[in-house]
Amino acid sequence: MGRSSFVVVANRLPVDQVNTPQGRQWRRSPGGLVTALQPVLAARRGTWIGWTGAASKPGEPPIEPFEIEDMILRAVPLSPEEIELYYEGFCNSSLWPLYHDAVETPVYQRSWWEAYRRVNERFADAAAEEAAEGGVVWVQDYQLQLVPAMLRARRPDLRIGFFLHIPFPPIELFAQLPRRTEVLRGLLGADLVGFQQPLAAQNFLRLTRHLLGLRPRGDSVEVDGRQVTASAFPISIDVAEIENLVATPHIRQRAAEIRHELGDPKTILLGVDRLDYTKGIEQRLTAFQELLADGTVSVPDAVMVQVATPSRERVEHYQALRVKVEREVGRINGDYGRVGVPAVHYLHQSYSRSELAALYCAADVMMVTPLRDGMNLVAKEYVAARADLGGALVLSEFAGASAELRQAFLVNPHDLDGLKDALVRAINVDPIEANRRMRAMRRHLRTHDVRAWARSFLTSLGVLDTMTT
Ligand code: ADP
Ligand code: F6P
Repeated sequence: MGRSSFVVVANRLPVDQVNTPQGRQWRRSPGGLVTALQPVLAARRGTWIGWTGAASKPGEPPIEPFEIEDMILRAVPLSPEEIELYYEGFCNSSLWPLYHDAVETPVYQRSWWEAYRRVNERFADAAAEEAAEGGVVWVQDYQLQLVPAMLRARRPDLRIGFFLHIPFPPIELFAQLPRRTEVLRGLLGADLVGFQQPLAAQNFLRLTRHLLGLRPRGDSVEVDGRQVTASAFPISIDVAEIENLVATPHIRQRAAEIRHELGDPKTILLGVDRLDYTKGIEQRLTAFQELLADGTVSVPDAVMVQVATPSRERVEHYQALRVKVEREVGRINGDYGRVGVPAVHYLHQSYSRSELAALYCAADVMMVTPLRDGMNLVAKEYVAARADLGGALVLSEFAGASAELRQAFLVNPHDLDGLKDALVRAINVDPIEANRRMRAMRRHLRTHDVRAWARSFLTSLGVLDTMTT
C-alpha cells in the first residue's frame, strides 16, 4: 500500500526541467489542471504520476519522487522507442486523429498498440504503489485509457475517476479502432468516466451496448456487478490567474507596445494554438487571404498574428501541416505585405503566460477556428483577459467551448464564406454590442472556472469531502 490518499495520473508531470549550474531542477509548469489540483493534492499529501517529457537513457538511474508545492511528483520513464511507438504512434497518430473526427487519416500499427499497453501497465503499477488503502485515483486523458481497468485489477479497494480532455467519437468512427473493445474495457475500470460534452458521454454509453452488449440506463452502466457513470464536466481555466495578470500595469503597457510594434493597425486579428491540424489554422489563413484579395481588409489597416507553438514535431501529419502553413504565410506576405509590414506575423514559438495575456489584450479579433476540439482553453483565456470588455471572439461551433461561450461570433470553419463573414462582423462590431457579448461570456466564466470543474468531478466521484479548494 502507498502513502497517498489522492493520486493524479497524467501523461505529463506538471513541471518543466531547468538545468542550472547546481544540476537538474524542476519548476511548476503553468496550466489549469495543476492549478485546480494542487490544493487537493497538497491537502492530502497527494502524488502526481507522469512523464517528464524527456527520453530516459539506458543505464540512467530512475528519477526519485520529489516534492513541489506540497505535491509529490513521481516520474514514469519512457524510452526513446516508447516515445516513438506509444506517444507519437498510438496516442498521436492513431487516437488523436480518430477522436478528432478523423480530420486527418488515423494510422494503425500493431507494434504501437503493444507499446501503448505496456506504458499504460507502467502507469497503473506506479498508481497501485502510490495509492493508500481506499484512496482516490484520478486518471487523465486519451494516453491512459487502459489504466482504470489495470488499476482496478491490482487495487479493487480504490475509487477511480477518469477524465477525457479530447472529444470522444461516435460509434461509426470508434469502430475503426483495431483494439476498440480493450480500450472500452479499460475505461470501464473507472467508477466515473468524465467527458467534455454530454454527446461524448452518450457516445461512450452507446458503445458499451454496441460493442460489449451491456445495458446502459440513464447515465450509468452496470459492468461486472459495478455501476460506472459517464457524464459531462466541461473543463475551464484559472480565471483569477489571468484576471490578476491583466490587471498589472506591465501587461497593459506591453499590450500597447505590441500594438505599436505591429504598426498601430486599426485591427489586430490573433490566433494562438499548438501547431495542430485540428485547430483550423489553414482555414483562417485562407479566409484572411480572401479578405485581402477582395479588398474587404487591407494592410497596414489590418494585420494577423498567428502564434503556433511547436508540437509533436516528429509526427508526419504535424510536419506536413507545418510545411502547408508556412507556405501559405509566405504566399500571403509575398502578395499583400509591404516593406516592414507583413500581412501575417507568424511565430512558431512558445510564449510566457504574461506575453500571451498581453497579446490577448492587444487583439481586436481572436480567431479560434478548430475543426474539432474537446474544449479549447485559448477561447476561454481570451475572454478572461478582456476585463476591459473589448475585443471580439470568433469561435468554431466544433470547439467544446462553443456550448458555453454562446455570445461569440460562432462559425463553421469548413464554410469559408461563413468564416469570412464572421470575421468581417467581428472586425466591424459596434463597441456597445462587443461589450455586451464579452460581459455575458465573462459572467459565465466567473462561475465556471477550473476549480469549479475539479469540484464538480470530485463531487460526482463521491470524494469531495476532503477538497479544500
Ligand atoms: P490543446 O489542449 O489542444 O493544446 P487548448 O486551447 O485547450 O488546446 O490549450 C492550449 C494551452 O496552451 C492554452 O492554455 C494556451 O494558453 C497554451 N498555449 C497555446 N499556444 C501557446 C504558445 N505559443 N505559448 C505558450 N502557451 C501556449
Ligand atoms: O488536451 C490534449 C493534450 O494532449 C493534453 O493531454 C496535453 O497536455 C496537450 O494536449 C499537449 O499535448 P502534448 O502533451 O502531446 O504536448
